[in-house]
Amino acid sequence: MIIHKTDAEIALMKDAAMLVSKTLTEVAKMLKPGVTTMDIDKLCLNFVKEHNAIPSFYNYHGYPHHICASVNDVVVHGFPNDTPLKNGDIVSIDMGVILKGWHGDHAYTFIMGDVAPEILQLVKVTKESLYKGIEKAVINNRVGDISYAIQDHTETKFGYGVVRELVGHGLGRSLHEDPQVPNYGKRGTGHKMKENLVLAIEPMINLGGREVYTDDDGWTVRTRDGQPSVHFEHDVCVKRNQALILSDYSIIEAAEKANPHLNSSYY
Ligand code: MF3
Ligand code: CO
Repeated sequence: MIIHKTDAEIALMKDAAMLVSKTLTEVAKMLKPGVTTMDIDKLCLNFVKEHNAIPSFYNYHGYPHHICASVNDVVVHGFPNDTPLKNGDIVSIDMGVILKGWHGDHAYTFIMGDVAPEILQLVKVTKESLYKGIEKAVINNRVGDISYAIQDHTETKFGYGVVRELVGHGLGRSLHEDPQVPNYGKRGTGHKMKENLVLAIEPMINLGGREVYTDDDGWTVRTRDGQPSVHFEHDVCVKRNQALILSDYSIIEAAEKANPHLNSSYY
């Protein structure tokens, strides 16, 4: 069932999405070699609690942590752990909150220090593909237009692997609402979008092949070939001429640029 939001509800969803953006900004400030993803989990939990919200991932279908921390070959749903992050890691932090009953759910991939040019390009192109998908989130377009735009910019143009098993989704009072938003597909197919549909658009793009597997923990999704994977996610509201992005990378990027341990040289 597709649920459209009122303008007042969109304003509340903006607050939820922005709380995630602010949390990811705190992550951008703290990241440096030696920090663990469990440290990040703790910071995120505290920050969200201080802002009168609750993390939405904890206990979602039994998920045992407050964030997903997906490092290098982990595509998504990585468990925070006590391994110190190091120069050369690429770290996707995905966080969900519930604020006043509404969900925010978004993610950003950080680059720790020095990486190969091909990894910088993978991160750049994956972020670009998110915005190319968002451009298509306007009324009377179809979900397949978003999917096609992401696949075209990543798989077709650069030969990257687009993960098929996991998809973006509607967002609202629930973390996962209809419709599903695959990162691959055909133009002019799928659900025809109307105003105030809220979507979490989240390309998951592999440097190598698109195949993935899930660890014995039942959650951690990894690339089959062990090559790195990148994940970006925004919360987006469908509008007439231009989608309204509810989350905000500009504050995360400002903190990223100011952090000498993070590599933002690709933008
Ligand atoms: N952003 C992811 C999603 O929308 C994160 C979900 S993690 C889970 O599916 F633990 F909550 F499942
Ligand atoms: Co999501």
